[in-house]
Amino acid sequence: MAAETFDRKAEDVGNIVLLEHVNFRVPDQQLATAFYVTALGFTRDPYLMVGLDNMWINLGRSQFHLPTGAPNHSRGRVGCVVSDFDTLPDRLQAADKWLGGTRYTHKVEKNHADVTCPWGNRIRLHRAGSDFGFMTLGMPYVEFPVPTGHADGIARFYREVMAAPARLEQDNGSAVARVQVGPGQSLRFRETSDDIRPYDGYHIAVYVTDFGGSHAKLNERGIVSQESNPYQYRFQEIVDPDSGKLLYEIEHEVRSFTHPMYARPLVNRNPAQRQPTYQPGQDAFYPRY
Ligand SMILES: [Fe+2]
Repeated sequence: MAAETFDRKAEDVGNIVLLEHVNFRVPDQQLATAFYVTALGFTRDPYLMVGLDNMWINLGRSQFHLPTGAPNHSRGRVGCVVSDFDTLPDRLQAADKWLGGTRYTHKVEKNHADVTCPWGNRIRLHRAGSDFGFMTLGMPYVEFPVPTGHADGIARFYREVMAAPARLEQDNGSAVARVQVGPGQSLRFRETSDDIRPYDGYHIAVYVTDFGGSHAKLNERGIVSQESNPYQYRFQEIVDPDSGKLLYEIEHEVRSFTHPMYARPLVNRNPAQRQPTYQPGQDAFYPRY
């Protein structure tokens, strides 16, 4: 009998081990609470940023960071997996009364729901189990539109500079650079001939294991944008690793595997737990990874 064979690269994660947060400035914390907590059902971080000038929102092992300020208008969208998809339609509709007069919209399909935040940022909520492996609550991807012809160079940048598995795919007629940034997590750079909104400073945060090696490769190209502290630096420019040509801008907060906040235990309330449907002992939510 032939021995079973496995694709031993299929479970590789690479240098980037966690897409930890997406950071959007929001001008109104009350509206942000109505959207991220009331409408989407996510949890507020109960320990950090609990004042009026910022809010951290838990989503499995990832977060949204929402400092108060002029609103960011992101490009593309953030993908989320939710465990309680069937309760979404009622919750999204019930939040209309808090979010009327803003850019809030919601449209629920069979296995995903498209929502826009009060300031127009797009989020797609996916039904757990539909396409995302073990993830039952989390942030499986962030997608960005990029100019035609840029996806291949972006994939090479992540492979060669950030040591992250990255490949070029065809999806719905578009070239997409898909970069592995954690178990079941990716950045997706989708080519489009449409106009792309100018970058306005929102950011993503990732944890890497080869913190020094990535820094050296970014530094030799002159694109480290901030030396934050011993555990963190930032870069914003994604460049062709051979020619140095600027391909895209999105600020990356890069954190070391030894950062004190790596894999901190997040308190994850079960979004299905509401007063009318309360079940004793079911308050916590435990992501499966
Ligand atoms: Fe951040």
